[in-house]
Amino acid sequence: MRIDVITIFPDYLNPLREALLGKAIQRERIAVGVHDLRDWTHDVHRAVDDSPYGGGPGMVMKPDVWGEALDEVCGSDPERMPLLVVPTPAGRPFTQRTAVRWSREPWLVFACGRYEGIDQRVIEDASRRMPVEEVSIGDYVLVGGEVAALTMIEAVVRLLPGVLGNPASAEQDSFSDGLLEGPCYTRPEVWRELPVPDVLRSGNHAAIARWRRDQALERTYRRRPDLLDALPERTLDAGDRAV
Ligand code: ADE
Repeated sequence: MRIDVITIFPDYLNPLREALLGKAIQRERIAVGVHDLRDWTHDVHRAVDDSPYGGGPGMVMKPDVWGEALDEVCGSDPERMPLLVVPTPAGRPFTQRTAVRWSREPWLVFACGRYEGIDQRVIEDASRRMPVEEVSIGDYVLVGGEVAALTMIEAVVRLLPGVLGNPASAEQDSFSDGLLEGPCYTRPEVWRELPVPDVLRSGNHAAIARWRRDQALERTYRRRPDLLDALPERTLDAGDRAV
């Protein structure tokens, strides 16, 4: 997979080179390009923003600069256009389902806006040539799209084959079965007078699976009842319904 990010703060994306993502780059599972939006300005001030039509606070990112940047980064081969992602608090929610869908794409381009946002015509124009998704990572407002892009890239890249050490980890994630993951434990058996639950040391695999499922259901019920409401009835077994 290829991932490009366009931003006025390229250093914000440095964490991409660390840890799991850095390893994915080294192993050539992903190729990453980070581009400074100001490279496409032509004035001495390298201005990327201007005041909003209609008045109001803040500044709006200029369409001409973004237009040239996207033309160059995305190219013009209709057979080979990326999926353009525009992080914005006004977008559709980014979820695990979005991450799974994007993990099948060969090329993602993230357009990170700052200030009040990007002139809407940039999105309208890009949509004439490529799929564009405006997405939000949650109901809160960040200073810009960079941290949101990092979040989404991490969620997508860990799903790519050969990136996680143990692919079963991705399958057991919270959300992959619509439930939150339950608690987990490792040695020592008793720590600060707190024992590991007996069942996990019983060697009874069926009992362990049932216990884990019950813990996941209970935790989801307490913390995210909205997820339980959204669960299709057929995904619950008789044991689940007893919980
Ligand atoms: N930019 C600012 N806030 C954001 C959010 N919640 N999600 C995505 N992009 C953003």
